[in-house]
Amino acid sequence: MVWGRVIIGDSRSLREIPDKSVHLVVTSPPYPMIEMWDEQFRSLDERIGALWTEMEESVDDKVNLARRIYDLMHENLRLTWIEVYRVLVNGGIACINIGDATRKIGNLFRTFPNHARTIEICEDIGFVTLPYVLWKKPSTKPKYKGKGAFLGSGFLPPNAYVTLDCEYILIFRKGGLRKFRPDDRRRRASKYTKEERDSWFTQIWSLPGVRQELSNSERRAAAFNEQVPRRLIRMFSVIGDTVLDPFLGTGTTMKVAMELGRNCIGYEVDESLKEIIREKVSSVKRDQRNAGIQLSITQRRGKVKLNELSN
Ligand SMILES: C[S@@+](CC[C@H](N)C(=O)[O-])C[C@H]1O[C@@H](n2cnc3c(N)ncnc32)[C@H](O)[C@@H]1O
Repeated sequence: MVWGRVIIGDSRSLREIPDKSVHLVVTSPPYPMIEMWDEQFRSLDERIGALWTEMEESVDDKVNLARRIYDLMHENLRLTWIEVYRVLVNGGIACINIGDATRKIGNLFRTFPNHARTIEICEDIGFVTLPYVLWKKPSTKPKYKGKGAFLGSGFLPPNAYVTLDCEYILIFRKGGLRKFRPDDRRRRASKYTKEERDSWFTQIWSLPGVRQELSNSERRAAAFNEQVPRRLIRMFSVIGDTVLDPFLGTGTTMKVAMELGRNCIGYEVDESLKEIIREKVSSVKRDQRNAGIQLSITQRRGKVKLNELSN
């Protein structure tokens, strides 16, 4: 029997989860300074909305105000990472998929290096940074007249920009190695093959165009390619473990975790995704690892109040 527990609520507090009870976190947060997530950050923290308004009206302070917005977006994510640290067992692992953002602020084009900021914040919380994966996406080159182009000016140096076509899968551990008894049967049953090890434990994962096969709602939530959580869950957890996704989206991590015989807890603040999550998780393929499945979806009462959260 495996179980899935969805909490429709804000993961800046994981109050439903006891300390040291989760073995693995696999997640992808909203990416700071990527336009599709602007509105959500505003709705989570009204100070962000106020700064955007100030920036739009500002003539000569735009760059500084954008920097403050970026900082504040990461300070909001930090609250979830603090909670993730609390609920992980010693030796538990957190895999965070995040991409950098490029954006024009006033007339100045620049990069916001989300991966670097996330590493700094997680180190600050106490996580140990492990070697990470670069997820090479199928071409995300901007289009110009229907053809792939590069940002910047034609063929003349030096003012064109490199296209960001990799995202990061950052990998952190809470403390030292997780301990197992030498004869642990669940661990042995979770073994991967030599071929799997050789292709998974390399730094660049080129996962071709599966995103194009996603439904519209999955695209809107920036759903994972299923292969990403599938690999991570097999690499960093054993059958019977509990996996957490604090930014559940359409429920990809939960579906895959349950297919792999792991239990899963997911938090999602956007209530409109509830039925999509239910549908996706109900489509879990059954085998001997998950012959019985149990899914619960609960709505948390009340909003998270920023001033009540621990820092
Ligand atoms: C990049 S998407 C995750 C997509 C997911 N990996 C999938 O495959 O569908 C990020 C999700 O986090 C949710 N979210 C953002 N802030 C949140 C918060 N504070 N608590 C819970 N969910 C949040 C968003 O609504 C969005 O669905």
